[in-house]
Amino acid sequence: MSAQRNILITGGAGFIGSHVVRRFVTKYPNYRIINLDALTYAGNLENLRDVEKASNYVFVKADICDAEALTKVFKGYALDGVVHLAAESHVDRSITDPLSFVRTNVFGTVTLLNAAREAWKGSMEGKRFYHVSTDEVYGSLHDDGLFLETTPYDPQSPYSASKAASDHFVRAYGNTYKLPFVLSNCSNNYGSHHFPEKLIPLMINNIRNNKPLPVYGKGENVRDWLWVEDHASAIDTIFHTGRNGETYNIGGHNEWKNIDLVHLLCGIMDRKLGRAEGESAKLITYVTDRAGHDLRYAIDAGKIERELGWKPSITFEVGLERTVDWYIANTEWLDHVTSGAYLHYYEAQYAR
Ligand code: NAD
Ligand code: TYD
Repeated sequence: MSAQRNILITGGAGFIGSHVVRRFVTKYPNYRIINLDALTYAGNLENLRDVEKASNYVFVKADICDAEALTKVFKGYALDGVVHLAAESHVDRSITDPLSFVRTNVFGTVTLLNAAREAWKGSMEGKRFYHVSTDEVYGSLHDDGLFLETTPYDPQSPYSASKAASDHFVRAYGNTYKLPFVLSNCSNNYGSHHFPEKLIPLMINNIRNNKPLPVYGKGENVRDWLWVEDHASAIDTIFHTGRNGETYNIGGHNEWKNIDLVHLLCGIMDRKLGRAEGESAKLITYVTDRAGHDLRYAIDAGKIERELGWKPSITFEVGLERTVDWYIANTEWLDHVTSGAYLHYYEAQYAR
């Protein structure tokens, strides 16, 4: 049985955060997991229905930019670990509203770092601040090459620039104040509970509703896809066994051109929905490209495999089938998200 610990997970009502919360709450009954989330449009407590009654789970509705609220949580729960996922995460939104990304991803992360530093100033022994970041901080690759932990930062979108800044602050706090930290940069995730503004759930939702499938530009951009539960298992591994002050790249060695991926999804959906082969692909519509669209991301995950023994547990074929099955079995979740009904869940669930 693991030792008793009090761990703060920020952004736990979001896509990846909810998988991390579920994994920690169920796998470590001795840990008290405090999920702190502001419940922005991307935060959905319906993602955590299956664990919300667990005795080792606590939800706190708060903003990571609110220093007072953070101090209260650090003191009230005697935190010894933080897994920081709360962020604005969608590139397209960062293009229309960069300042909200600076606010949460930069100011919010530094506010959280300050709270940890203040709470742990007596002794940093046994404490750990884990910052969850993205491979997008490394910029855009051409046709070959992979991102390594040593690849220089070269962010190209307001989203990746804000995540890069937050990564720099975490390392600066490690160097200046000796805050014990680990950091990881992961490739694109896919899986259940993914907000349908991102490519895969958006396409699944539009295919099911017979709506156009908007492919940006020529669909030639490449992303390296990892099943979200494998990301959660990597976070678990790094949180527990990663070396202090180190960075780990996480990825699935699974590169796909957007257009090929959309065709693959159309084929799976044709089969699952009993449509004639090629029916869903007729919905593909090429639309104006994203401004400054990064061409290719691809991760070399050799370090985490060699040093910590982590590897993805399933293939893309298996993961994508599971993912499509989940959305088909959970159309209510999709309908709540697309109608905005999920926003009322907090009031119904927590207004006591
Ligand atoms: P998401 O947008 O689904 O969830 C973000 C969560 O953070 C939401 O629950 C939201 O309510 C919360 N949040 C936002 N602003 C907040 C604030 N100011 N205070 C408190 N909570 C706030 O994001 P995601 O896709 O789950 O990503 C989680 C983390 O993983 C992010 O840091 C992101 O940069 C990183 N990441 C994501 C991917 C990916 O493919 N989605 C890949 C690599 C890294
Ligand atoms: P996205 O899921 O937004 O992730 P990111 O931009 O952070 O990698 O987009 C994945 C890829 O899919 C990216 O190249 C942009 C493209 N895309 C489309 O072609 N159409 C869409 O409607 C969306 C949301 C994304």
